[in-house]
Amino acid sequence: MIWFDDRFVPESESKVSYLDRGYCFGDGVYEVFRVYAGQVYEGAAHYERLVRSAREIKLRLPYPLEEIERIVLELIERERLRDGSVYLQITRGVAPRAHSFPPADTQPVLLVYASPAKRRVESMRGGIAAITRPDERWLRCDIKSLNLLGSVLAKQEAEEAGADDVILHRDGIVTECSASNVMIVKDGVLLTHPANRLILHGVTRAVVLRLARELGIPAEERPFSLETLRRADEAFLTSTIMEVMPIVAIDGARVGDGAPGPVTRRLQQAYEATIPASALSGGGGQ
Ligand SMILES: Cc1ncc(COP(=O)(O)O)c(C=O)c1O
Repeated sequence: MIWFDDRFVPESESKVSYLDRGYCFGDGVYEVFRVYAGQVYEGAAHYERLVRSAREIKLRLPYPLEEIERIVLELIERERLRDGSVYLQITRGVAPRAHSFPPADTQPVLLVYASPAKRRVESMRGGIAAITRPDERWLRCDIKSLNLLGSVLAKQEAEEAGADDVILHRDGIVTECSASNVMIVKDGVLLTHPANRLILHGVTRAVVLRLARELGIPAEERPFSLETLRRADEAFLTSTIMEVMPIVAIDGARVGDGAPGPVTRRLQQAYEATIPASALSGGGGQ
């Protein structure tokens, strides 16, 4: 069962119009929520970002936010989702193809679906490999827009290079990954790109920065170079799905001693402490 275009329908009955502006232009915004033990994790922060993304592209929400929240909760219940994710997108609706906005009464189209997912525990323990690539996305990466071609192409390059992910840089300044934020540790200090227009303001990023503060780990939100990245003692990425994921190799070279470092481990443990215990112990499936 999914929510599509004003109602709950079986997946097989959802038909996207060829004139949907999300389909034609990527004209819309989205969110991905994590569900642990049947509960939405950091829901308020995700809804706040959804509202902001919509506002920044002048997109009207199809219903009041409380109604959207109710739909998400009902879907989780209907699907009996315990551990997994909920994908939500809103497009600017169906209208004859023209670049400028459609008539004001065009109804935005909401899609919501749920997927069971296991935590990637093995990768979280052992770490992943990343490559670096130029960040060729647009200049409003703070908006969680449906336009993901820059990320798609970068991630595909990682896959073809046999790496798990891709760290992006603009003119040698590290921004973020294709679908996550990136942090490094150098001489005990946590570094990550400032939350400006060049990166998505990750919900997990914010949680990890808060945890670092609570643990007394010095953290700085400032731009750093590819060179600094290569000299990092530790590196990890953060996202709703990957949580705190150690990066142990970059462009084929080891990060630190090639294993997840102590600061990364502390933050991982602190992050896990914010997740319901039942989701940690082999959580997954419906
Ligand atoms: C480009 C980008 N950066 C960062 C993130 C991480 O954000 P969050 O922690 O809210 O999942 C995502 C998540 O999808 C993303 O697509």
